[in-house]
Amino acid sequence: MELITGATGYVGGRLVERLLAEGRPVRALARDPSRLEARAGLELAGGDLTSGRGVREALEGCATAYYLVHSMEAPTSTEDGDFSDRDRRAAESFAQAARAEGVERVVYLGGIAPAGAEPSAHIGSRIEVEQILLEAAPASTALRASLLIGSRSSSFRILVRLVERLRLLPMPGWRRNRTQPLAERDAVEFLARTPGIEAAAGRSLDIAGPDVLSYGEMIEGIAESMGVARLPIGLGVSLTPPASAVVSALTDQPLDLVRPLMESLEHELLPRDALEAPEMYGIRTLPFDRAVERALAEWERTEELAAR
Ligand SMILES: NC(=O)c1ccc[n+]([C@@H]2O[C@H](COP(=O)([O-])OP(=O)(O)OC[C@H]3O[C@@H](n4cnc5c(N)ncnc54)[C@H](OP(=O)(O)O)[C@@H]3O)[C@@H](O)[C@H]2O)c1
Repeated sequence: MELITGATGYVGGRLVERLLAEGRPVRALARDPSRLEARAGLELAGGDLTSGRGVREALEGCATAYYLVHSMEAPTSTEDGDFSDRDRRAAESFAQAARAEGVERVVYLGGIAPAGAEPSAHIGSRIEVEQILLEAAPASTALRASLLIGSRSSSFRILVRLVERLRLLPMPGWRRNRTQPLAERDAVEFLARTPGIEAAAGRSLDIAGPDVLSYGEMIEGIAESMGVARLPIGLGVSLTPPASAVVSALTDQPLDLVRPLMESLEHELLPRDALEAPEMYGIRTLPFDRAVERALAEWERTEELAAR
């Protein structure tokens, strides 16, 4: 049995589908399991990582546990702290329960760290969670990705909404910073194969697609895939605090989510050293343009994109 936490979330939900399709028995943990659809091969478990409610019970009998929890929602009280406090508390309570239940391997998806620069609060928190989880079980694996290209990926949706809604695209100073985005399909595949990859045990590995692109190039690539002409206007400054409020309003995404994501654009987010994971896992990653096409096509199956 494998436990998937964050099963109501974007990555966790996709991973549940992927493991069930392979016939692997899955237990899915959610704060409100009634939000998950009951299916053959899927056991539902209720639990909250921050309070610890139901977590040991959910881990019982699981050799592998996927950690795909992230608390970017607005705090409900001042004692809640910010997302870093909530994510630290959740990881610590999960690590304690995983040790107590003898879990062999925790598999985590976090974020790529900037080289030689202080990480943003968001990336710093992802790294802190990684350290807590790698210490919880010696054979654990942390995968680090930057932007995921998928129809439900919050960062991708923000970029698409900006292209859709703005004819003139103001491009702040961070437009020249580069990253290596990854197709959702490939991210899910790396996660699904991890328990079978011995060489990945006890490691933190970067996972990334084949193309290195600046954020400006990514936005232009998305506009091209959407078949719309957009006039980029280069700005000399980054303007993150006021810009995140505008982006939040334009894209209908909560400010508590947009601001930390935009702060991460201030640095290049490129993989450490040579990218080992694709060869280690035998995964040929999708080029950026193909990943965008797939994501937009899937998005349009459920919702029309005004600009297309
Ligand atoms: N999306 C991306 O582009 C991307 C890129 C790189 C890395 N990642 C990493 O992938 C991981 C998953 O991200 P995501 O985009 O899938 O996040 P998401 O869609 O926001 O999902 C987060 C999940 O965490 C759950 N959760 C939050 N607090 C919880 C708690 N106290 N107890 C139990 N569950 C709790 C949420 O459950 P509720 O439904 O109950 O709120 C939800 O299922 C994160 O570590 C993220 O850093 C994502």
